[in-house]
Amino acid sequence: MCGIVGVISKEFNVAPLIVSMLKKLEYRGYDSAGVALVQPGKVVVKKDRGVIDDIRERYNLTKMEGKVGLGHTRWATHGAPSHKNAHPHQDCRGEIAVVHNGIIENYVELKRELVIRGHLFKSETDTEVIPHLIEEKLAEGLDLKEAVKETVKKLKGSFAIAVVSSKFPHKIVAAKKGSPLVVGVSEEALFIASDIPAFLQQTNKVIFISEEEIVTLTGNKVEIETFNGQKVKRTIQTINWTYEMAQKSGYPHFMLKEIEEQPLAIKETLRSTNGELMEIVEEIVKNEGNLYFVASGTSYHATLAGKYIFAKVAGIPFETMQSSEFTEAIVPTLSPKSLVFAVSQSGETADTKVSLKKAKERGAKTIALTNVLGSSITRIADEVCYTYAGPEIGVAATKTFTSQITLLTYLALKSAEVLGLEVEEKFRKLKKLPQYLSKTLTTSNLAQRIAKEIKSHGDVYFIGRGVGYPVALEGALKLKEISYIHAEGTGAGEYKHGPLALISENTPVVAVVTPGPSQTKMVGNIEEVKARGAKVISIAPEGNKKIEEMSNFTFKINREVDEFLSPAPYIVPLQYLAYYTAVLRGLNPDKPRNLAKSVTVE
Ligand code: AGP
Repeated sequence: MCGIVGVISKEFNVAPLIVSMLKKLEYRGYDSAGVALVQPGKVVVKKDRGVIDDIRERYNLTKMEGKVGLGHTRWATHGAPSHKNAHPHQDCRGEIAVVHNGIIENYVELKRELVIRGHLFKSETDTEVIPHLIEEKLAEGLDLKEAVKETVKKLKGSFAIAVVSSKFPHKIVAAKKGSPLVVGVSEEALFIASDIPAFLQQTNKVIFISEEEIVTLTGNKVEIETFNGQKVKRTIQTINWTYEMAQKSGYPHFMLKEIEEQPLAIKETLRSTNGELMEIVEEIVKNEGNLYFVASGTSYHATLAGKYIFAKVAGIPFETMQSSEFTEAIVPTLSPKSLVFAVSQSGETADTKVSLKKAKERGAKTIALTNVLGSSITRIADEVCYTYAGPEIGVAATKTFTSQITLLTYLALKSAEVLGLEVEEKFRKLKKLPQYLSKTLTTSNLAQRIAKEIKSHGDVYFIGRGVGYPVALEGALKLKEISYIHAEGTGAGEYKHGPLALISENTPVVAVVTPGPSQTKMVGNIEEVKARGAKVISIAPEGNKKIEEMSNFTFKINREVDEFLSPAPYIVPLQYLAYYTAVLRGLNPDKPRNLAKSVTVE
């Protein structure tokens, strides 16, 4: 899970641009970084362990000379973070440099063969086989593109790579199989990157590279061909994300900015449906009970909310399973009658991609819901829908979660409508969801106060029922991933079957009391934990006096919010709570330790 970038210009030294592009991709990984510049007769590489700002200072990266160059920001998979394992990697003579995102599964065999043929390896990475394989092909007299083409045919696994060589000083060759890669086009330069925000400040004209394609950047020319050598014509697309949208806009952290962007983000989600997506709705409605969601992490919680919403508003039974378990538990049962609906904000989560591919192999109909245009799952699925929440940079998913739920709610209501159910009033309320979310932003102050109370606790427990259950799971995930406090979400009804033993004097328990029939049962569950001394923080419909009396703190949510609409507004106070707790503990919520934004390895 890494970020790769490359720039080719006729006019200027590209090193400062490469460094600033890497900064914008740091969310893809940030344990080491490096830069390679093509100079007359050589490729100069500077790299190390650490974050890009430190490495820039240490090695004077922006002063490096060269009009063609590559950069890399790493999240280690093979080989611990270190100077030698940082990218770019080189061949024996230092004439080639390669940056790579992904995993080369057969690198052990390839390395063994290369070592026998006399190649010298410096790192423990899987990537290093690539420059050595290219070196051999160049020595056979192939040009850089052909050498890369022959090399990628030998690689098993997933990769996006970019390559430069001092023998071909005016070229960048890049290839993609299973990891994202996109080209940016401007008058002054051509760019290659794992993701659009890397070059969005320079250009919003992009060319998406598809599976098993090689792209060559020379001067102002972009040439694409398949691994089999077929020329590809691809039009340039204009992306409407502005550079500012991908920046913090004055907020101290991306996460806070993204929490507060939620009313706008879900407005976009609703706007983009245009009352349509009928192909997807029809697929759902005509299916006879073989419907599965597949997703990971926060996206999994969105599907769990989706499962309740589809059941409640349309009587449609979706199953949902975490992507990492889906291939074992569900794939063997799939048939052409099944429908598999993958949800992933990045569209690049390896487990979700694999699940979708395997579902297709079993003949299942597949749908992808994502926030990233042209991402991998959109190229696998039969049907695609987008959340259009704008780029999400904070590692902790916030606005993509509520926009996923919004889109799933829309699809559930449309399905109900096709089934002849009365949903006009519900659609009217759905349109008001951005307003409801705006109101929940006022919970920020109370969240700051409560964060002071919980910041020194070792454990925080979250309970919920019905649609409140996925909200409890998500609230716990947010808190644990950015504040490093142990947080556990559980269905409130399960408490007496075990977790109740964990509650003692002053244990913080967050109770998600969503509207609907589960409210009364939640009163009983809160009583259970209160009787054991718990400090109760509740999120409940405004005016529920009983819950307020029982709680030490209550986040009050507009009473107009119906049960089927509640997961999105009810999660907002918990996103704030996690955010402020992390900040009070002196942590950077945008970059939690050990985690990265898109998890592109299984
Ligand atoms: C969210 O806060 C997490 N960082 C993580 O659980 C994330 O939701 C998960 O990795 C799935 O990502 P995706 O939506 O891009 O597939």
